[in-house]
Amino acid sequence: MNTDQVPIGHNGPSKIKSAPSEPGSSYNNHARFDQMPQNYTESQADATATTGSHVEYPSRSKQPAHAPNGNTDNFKGRTVDPSDTGRTTDDASFYSYHSARDLANFVKDFYGRTFNNQSDIYMMPSDSAEYQRLNKQHYAFVLGLNGLFPCADSVNELLAPREGERPAILDLGCGSGIWAMEVATQFPHCEVVGLDLAPVPVDIETLPPNCRFEIDNADLGLQHYHNYFDLIYVRCIGSGISDHRKMMLDVEACLKPNGIVFFIDGDQTIYQEDMVTPIAVGQERDEGGNPHDGSWLHRIAREIRYAAVYNGCDVDGLENCIDYGIWDHELIDPSTVKVASMATPLGIWAKARDEDTQQRVLYTGSLVRQDLMGASRGWHPMLLKYGIPQETLDKWSQRIDDELTSDKFRMSMRWRFTWGKRRANTTEDSTSGGDNETPAPTVPPATPPYQPSIADRTDDFRFMDIYHTREEAAAMADLRRLKAKDLPTPMVVKIKKQLSSSG
Ligand SMILES: C[S@@+](CC[C@H](N)C(=O)[O-])C[C@H]1O[C@@H](n2cnc3c(N)ncnc32)[C@H](O)[C@@H]1O
Repeated sequence: MNTDQVPIGHNGPSKIKSAPSEPGSSYNNHARFDQMPQNYTESQADATATTGSHVEYPSRSKQPAHAPNGNTDNFKGRTVDPSDTGRTTDDASFYSYHSARDLANFVKDFYGRTFNNQSDIYMMPSDSAEYQRLNKQHYAFVLGLNGLFPCADSVNELLAPREGERPAILDLGCGSGIWAMEVATQFPHCEVVGLDLAPVPVDIETLPPNCRFEIDNADLGLQHYHNYFDLIYVRCIGSGISDHRKMMLDVEACLKPNGIVFFIDGDQTIYQEDMVTPIAVGQERDEGGNPHDGSWLHRIAREIRYAAVYNGCDVDGLENCIDYGIWDHELIDPSTVKVASMATPLGIWAKARDEDTQQRVLYTGSLVRQDLMGASRGWHPMLLKYGIPQETLDKWSQRIDDELTSDKFRMSMRWRFTWGKRRANTTEDSTSGGDNETPAPTVPPATPPYQPSIADRTDDFRFMDIYHTREEAAAMADLRRLKAKDLPTPMVVKIKKQLSSSG
């Protein structure tokens, strides 16, 4: 098997036309469909005149903007009919942005890459190279999870076709749109919405008719979608969120009773094969290290973690909220909550006991290796902003390529998960704590206290560790933090301190 190619046979990368990053290129000629801007700030709304323009597919009528609660406040600068239920009665409605002027309202170019124009917090690119990276990462998730979700049985039961109902699914921060389109294909009776800061590079020929995309900033609140979705998938959007817990509570309010939510994000610590002990961080000699001893991937990942904090992203909130689970969230039924770690090897060093798992492990390791080589360059603009020179970043990325392609270290990446279902008896918009709510049952303490154990993965790679109680999840999170507490101070932190001390 050639492990360096994105798998085919899914509704995936081979079918998605990505947008070249340079404006004025063919990017502007590709129709981009059904991406209604939502939730605009007033200044964005004033500067934007795209919705409803250039209707290219009149056979599919435009539906009004979504305001399921008749709430027009969230649609600043736009008029919303309060009688509109917000449900699209037809399949997707199609609009295209086919002028440079329209696209310029949604993306901007700097440092030679294209970025979204809605949020200054999120600083990864929104361009062709990034979408290809995300598609590889998506397939690593599919292989690690053996599907699109960590608990397929519960999802299949939840989304089973029922008379008179059309389940709705949200992919929040959908990136290239690949997960949204695959879930729409797998559940053709469901309505699927992909929402992102930037337009999604989809092609009308492969867009499932039950899937549509919207441009929106989840950081501005999603009140217009409260009580609307049966399933919400939130994967790797943490670097665009200023208050993670607030976002999670808001997302949970967008579920219908019994609806399920998945929160997933990456861990910027790079681990040894046990998935608990950090790999050494790369350091130059003048920083007290030996450049050959530590991982430069781990170095850049740590730099980006701290740069993201300076840029307004709630990294601590992300780490705490996912690693310690959503047991205490008011709308969530604690008996349904899980926390999990998905391990992906970085490279093709890992061994599994059975042939099927071995193939999945090799493929995943190859995909994530390519994913992170791309990510290391996607992170440059953010690190440049916080003072790391381009020559240094280029040197680090070259070292990352070398260490990943040579499998110099047996490194693994950890993906943090938490999921749970909304309680059955919350039907109104109850983020304010209305009378109709049953208080969340208290979670009994585990007795005896859970002792975290470190599994030996040396010859038996395992993708998923699931923690069934808050105590288990917390014990593992605490252990990882303890082991990472002496990692070296990132350069962006030193630069920031120097700048503040020099006034
Ligand atoms: C790392 S990508 C992950 C994409 C996709 N979820 C996946 O796993 O393939 C993060 C995506 O989240 C989007 N995003 C980040 N912050 C967001 C926000 N506040 N509102 C909406 N989308 C956001 C970004 O534009 C980007 O496409």
